[in-house]
Amino acid sequence: MSPLPEKFTLRPVSPEQVTTVLAPFLARLNREPERHIGYCDDTPEMMVDTLGRMSPVPVDTFRLAFEGERLVGALGFDTDARLGRAWLFGPQVEHEAWHAVADALFTAVCPLLPEHVRELELYYDVRNTRCHEAAVRWGFTSAGDSYVLRFERDGMTGVPHETAESLTPAHHDALKVLHHELWPVSWLTGEQLLEKQDENHRLLVLTEGPELLGYVFAKVQPEFGEGFIEHVAVAERARGRGLGRKLVAAALRWMFSWDEVKVTHLVARAENEPAVRLYRGLGYQVLHPMRAARRPIG
Ligand SMILES: CC(C)(COP(=O)(O)OP(=O)(O)OC[C@H]1O[C@@H](n2cnc3c(N)ncnc32)[C@H](O)[C@@H]1OP(=O)(O)O)[C@@H](O)C(=O)NCCC(=O)NCCS
Repeated sequence: MSPLPEKFTLRPVSPEQVTTVLAPFLARLNREPERHIGYCDDTPEMMVDTLGRMSPVPVDTFRLAFEGERLVGALGFDTDARLGRAWLFGPQVEHEAWHAVADALFTAVCPLLPEHVRELELYYDVRNTRCHEAAVRWGFTSAGDSYVLRFERDGMTGVPHETAESLTPAHHDALKVLHHELWPVSWLTGEQLLEKQDENHRLLVLTEGPELLGYVFAKVQPEFGEGFIEHVAVAERARGRGLGRKLVAAALRWMFSWDEVKVTHLVARAENEPAVRLYRGLGYQVLHPMRAARRPIG
């Protein structure tokens, strides 16, 4: 680890600075592929929203690096007690002493991790080579590559006019079973998918009598002009019949039925060839090739 020259200071972030300093800094740097971190947003407004949902709150989990009074770096984390995992937001550094500042931030942030955290995750664009170098130096190892895929409203002209049903209670249990079969350790359980349903979160399904053939879970954030597909799944016995394509097309139709929504994103694991081909076939484009890297704690 490189030592931090004396001209730098590390400080906690005050509640006001979360909105006025931290969010704009993270969002501005995050727009560059060479600095992109997966959990951070590209606009200050979205970043404020994301930071506002964090638990513990950013004043307890972020450290800022200053050269004099100039902000040159930030690092913090979000946690999930159920998974025992923390996701690092950063390191974002704007200084030629990138590695020294990042190392100092990492050293300062690790003692802030709650006890339930047993594993750290970094998620970065593979073009963010400095983050990759820091990950290796800090003992992280690869946990797989993925793509952040983007679909803009203009692409809808090529999407078939598919619809799917809204989920009804008759298929709640089947949904939980299928979701758990496919993602036994997920950041969102089947139960949580059901609870999240509201005007902005939609579960669309394809059924055959009592059988659930597949589902897609999509959300919109009209205030940010964004939509997102979080999960799509087809029961194994029903795959290869065009149902996945039908579900994603129906989700796109629902998301773009909101006039405010201009763009939608989703994340797919790079090795998940059926899923990647399905999305690319509908017109999704790769925005960020990503890598997840993890490190156990203790
Ligand atoms: C990904 C998944 C939803 C696809 O569902 P599906 O109903 O089998 O897909 P479709 O029949 O609609 O196929 C759509 C396209 O996907 C691609 N595809 C589907 N299965 C494929 C396979 N086994 N190998 C390669 N490509 C495949 C094809 O390009 C196909 O287009 P084509 O008609 O031009 O050949 C399904 O495999 C699944 O549920 N997998 C497990 C959960 C999962 O990985 N979800 C995605 C998380 S990002």
